[in-house]
Amino acid sequence: MSKSLFRKKSITTILKDAQDGLSDDAHGGGLHKVLKVKDLTAMGIAAVIGAGIFSTIGEASFHGGPGVSLLFIITAVTCGFSALCYAEFASRVPVSGSAYTYSYVTFGELAAWVIGWALILEYAIGNIAVAISWSGYFNNLLAGVGKAFGMNLSLPLWLTSNYDSATPEIYASAPHIGSLPVILNLPAFIIVVLVTYLAYVGIRESKKSANFMVGLKIAVILFVIIVGSFYVHPDNWSPFMPNGFSGVLKGVSAVFFAYIGFDAISTTAEECANPQRDLPKGMIYSLIICTVLYILIAFVLTGMVSYSQLKVEDPLAFVFNAVNLHKVSFLISVSAVVATTSVLLVFQIGQPRIWMSMSRDGLLPKKFSKIHPKFKTPSFATIITGVIVGVPALFLNLTVVTDLTSIGTLFAFILVCGGVLLLPPQPANDGSKRFRLPYINGQYIVPAIVLIFIYIFRKELPTRFSLAGGWDVWKHNIPFFFFAVATIVFVVLSFWKKLSLIPVLGLLSCFYLMTEIGLSNWEVFTVWLLIGLAIYFGYSYRKSKLNEDVAKVHIQ
Ligand code: ALA
Repeated sequence: MSKSLFRKKSITTILKDAQDGLSDDAHGGGLHKVLKVKDLTAMGIAAVIGAGIFSTIGEASFHGGPGVSLLFIITAVTCGFSALCYAEFASRVPVSGSAYTYSYVTFGELAAWVIGWALILEYAIGNIAVAISWSGYFNNLLAGVGKAFGMNLSLPLWLTSNYDSATPEIYASAPHIGSLPVILNLPAFIIVVLVTYLAYVGIRESKKSANFMVGLKIAVILFVIIVGSFYVHPDNWSPFMPNGFSGVLKGVSAVFFAYIGFDAISTTAEECANPQRDLPKGMIYSLIICTVLYILIAFVLTGMVSYSQLKVEDPLAFVFNAVNLHKVSFLISVSAVVATTSVLLVFQIGQPRIWMSMSRDGLLPKKFSKIHPKFKTPSFATIITGVIVGVPALFLNLTVVTDLTSIGTLFAFILVCGGVLLLPPQPANDGSKRFRLPYINGQYIVPAIVLIFIYIFRKELPTRFSLAGGWDVWKHNIPFFFFAVATIVFVVLSFWKKLSLIPVLGLLSCFYLMTEIGLSNWEVFTVWLLIGLAIYFGYSYRKSKLNEDVAKVHIQ
């Protein structure tokens, strides 16, 4: 039988597969259904507040000045649209797999594979970034503890660096194997091993740890906001955008990275007591809580010192040191270590569950959906995740992985928003209490919003299309060019087909943020997708369990 690249999976089949996969004794039986709204919200926050707010916000504030708080608001709105779309899918397709499964239902197999492949950037590659950031704060902590006790507890620099960022001194001090200097980030590797172990032994243990870590980090962040607010000098907020709006936009990747994670809880759908009601709530609550905390932190941070001092890797600890509150600074280092550990945990749990879904569909080898008979977790996939995150964490540098994570995740959000547009309408009220995305007719609102933006940016827009600087300048506008085309298409479609407003705005705003993440990242991202396609056509396409018989979509 010929197989179509666009064959779709019906929701009935997905739910049945999930049930079969879970009840198959040979595979170790089902996952534990223990997660409730509170746990899911905690897991969302656990995944969101981490390396972004503790590390990457520093450089974003340096470029953007206090205006970076504006970027936190813009990004929160963008993520809000996407969260609502994720929520809609989570309530209609309540199985593990997140955006991968959602794309399978709406766009078909090829897009599902592409999204599953892109999600590796969000989960596994993202976790490499988090592990590297964890290691940085952990070393701060060791140094701080050592100082308090008059000892030197710091690890040798060659054990906490990577080839790319190591200084000549580190190269000189490193031991050599033959002529090769040994430079690696050992703490980053060790934390990945420990977190992978936790993810392996069970969702209950992971849930307890996530709840505990979240409580601690929220308490510390609130403390930072409250104490910090006494040290704010409003003078520091002026000028608000020292490098203009374009300076603010330089922080897109860093700020977006800080928000990534609320969507990761959708991978635990099969471990939720009532996924259709609780998952949407968990995602939206965690996003709202993080947004409020982030905006406050951004104001406190840029109010305590001049933005020009913030080009540091540990900005929150730095500002408290700057006002001589060294103990608070130490507390922040402790909480950064805890915060980034919980981010690691959630993504380390999420990645294997996406692979589990892909494996059930035949797109990955069967072992990836094997569930551990005792711990009830996807054991093989969890170990592979540990290897794929842990080994590169030994050697890679932070910025590369952060940018790649942000671009891959924005791409996933775009497909999720686009997917919602393809879902068939639901009856107004079927009596169930599951979440429903409100339908707002975008027919006039989408064109009106686009016209307003064109008016606001009327001076900037022509420069985006100008060929004056030659190819070397213009090539950086290629992503924006694609965005402009997509905008025109969606204005027309919205007008013509009365598209639902929220997904359209989500799709366009994510696409716009993507255009702000430099061309070189687009290039790497494209290569990543091409490798994914090669694997799909070399393996997954042939092994897929889906055939044309189930190509008809039935969605709840
Ligand atoms: N949002 C997560 C973090 O900042 C990925 O660590």
